[in-house]
Amino acid sequence: MLDIRNAVKIFERGTSLEHTALNRLNLHLDAEEFVTIIGSNGAGKSTLFNAICGTFLLDEGSIVLAGQDITYLKEHRRALSIGRVFQDPMKGTAPHMTIEENLSLAYSRATAKPLSFAPSRKQVALFKERIAEFGMGLEDRMKTRVGLLSGGQRQAVTLLMCTIVPPKLLLLDEHTAALDPATADKVMDITRRTVAQYRLTTLMITHNIASALSTGTRTIMMDEGQILFDISGGERANTTVDDLLRSYSASRHKALDNDRMLLQDKR
Ligand SMILES: Nc1ncnc2c1ncn2[C@@H]1O[C@H](COP(=O)(O)OP(=O)(O)OP(=O)(O)O)[C@@H](O)[C@H]1O
Ligand SMILES: [Mg+2]
Repeated sequence: MLDIRNAVKIFERGTSLEHTALNRLNLHLDAEEFVTIIGSNGAGKSTLFNAICGTFLLDEGSIVLAGQDITYLKEHRRALSIGRVFQDPMKGTAPHMTIEENLSLAYSRATAKPLSFAPSRKQVALFKERIAEFGMGLEDRMKTRVGLLSGGQRQAVTLLMCTIVPPKLLLLDEHTAALDPATADKVMDITRRTVAQYRLTTLMITHNIASALSTGTRTIMMDEGQILFDISGGERANTTVDDLLRSYSASRHKALDNDRMLLQDKR
């Protein structure tokens, strides 16, 4: 489904700030795999997502998504088949537009119809049905401006905007990190249910190692622009947070360093 081969991205090339953010990285995802990604600050996790989305072109390597070589495809064209939720709840939605208008815009974009803020009655019914599945009561607030919603509610709306037409690939970049723990749990629950129900091929970056190991089907750890560990199945089921931290220190001779990795993650 997703095939990244030999991906190289070097920032500030030729200057004293030259930094290799992706260092001959290879990653293959089968359809419907749900892979969680962990790693130190600066490991290249978000850069990997930017490369997949076409925020910039790779310096070397190739990306194939669902049989299509997208290595040189423009970002807005890739956005038709890739959904992405960021950490910042302000980022995915237009605050002055209502829930309904935001969803309508996302829907017309994903179905390649002329952009429309005014959904048909049938579309409104679909939006309401989907948002009701989240169990947040947002189906009764379709005419509320998104700027008035809480961070968790906004992330839920963004997640729905990204999946109202199931994308070929869903990318979640620490999308619960800015939320309080209870809300983060709720949004994670919604995420798991949405991914399972629509059988979405998904990559999720998280700083919460326990949640990385218990969510999805496979966990990879990135470091210095490469994949350091890639575990799934029984091996993953038998791996604890401490095992992962220990293996990291043993292979890198330093501790995993991520400012959002809190002690409470070691549950
Ligand atoms: N546009 C850019 N220009 C220059 N350097 C960049 C750019 N984007 C990322 N980098 C650098 O590339 C490296 C990888 O950054 P990236 O954002 O991918 O890390 P990350 O694994 O997502 O870390 P974090 O856990 O802190 O979010 C870092 O050293 C970062 O400073
Ligand atoms: Mg990042």
